[in-house]
Amino acid sequence: MFITLEGPEGSGKSSHIPYLVEYLRERGHTVFPTREPGGTSIGEQVREILNNLKNTEMHPRTETLLFQAARAQFVEQVIKPRLAVGEIVISDRYADSTLAYQGYGHQQDLEKIRALINYATGGLLPDLTILLDVDVEIGLERKENGDEWNRLDAYTVEFHRRVRQGYLALAREEPQRWSIIDAGQAWDVVQEEMRRVIIARL
Ligand code: TYD
Repeated sequence: MFITLEGPEGSGKSSHIPYLVEYLRERGHTVFPTREPGGTSIGEQVREILNNLKNTEMHPRTETLLFQAARAQFVEQVIKPRLAVGEIVISDRYADSTLAYQGYGHQQDLEKIRALINYATGGLLPDLTILLDVDVEIGLERKENGDEWNRLDAYTVEFHRRVRQGYLALAREEPQRWSIIDAGQAWDVVQEEMRRVIIARL
């Protein structure tokens, strides 16, 4: 089973993953947590180019392609082999991040981006995608006070608003795959809801 977590900046995805993994392992599942755009040595190198604040001249198409380059490696090297042996793979971000950020955020043609994603992933879709939805101002504030600030975080508030709206639109388009959780709630409540959604799909 392939589960992905998506959400705008500061939605808290990363903080939830270790607890989800522990919970599922206690229930006897073999779980493999990972993240995009990384999870492989090549992917981590691409991530460094993408996140580097010095790369201010990066064009949105360059950005889109770099994410797909990392993703192609990630799918082949990490996700497919794990799924093939029956593990639960939980990824912090996947292809929907490209639709939300490069598609809705940068306002690039969604159909072209879908074609690129399809090429990069060989058509591999998650079985379940959880959207941790959070108000953009709250999310960016959390991010400024917490995690490391990267090149993409520094895009305008309007960019991040489009990303959030993009996610909501994607979730509405495919309600059978997506589950939306209000990440503005208390952390424990969010964790509880995530566990419930995952268990219901297993
Ligand atoms: P990261 O530090 O992992 O942030 P977060 O904790 O919010 O996931 O940086 C990943 C950044 O890359 C984040 O700003 C979202 C962005 N991103 C895209 O724009 N497109 C993509 O396809 C992916 C995977 C990530």
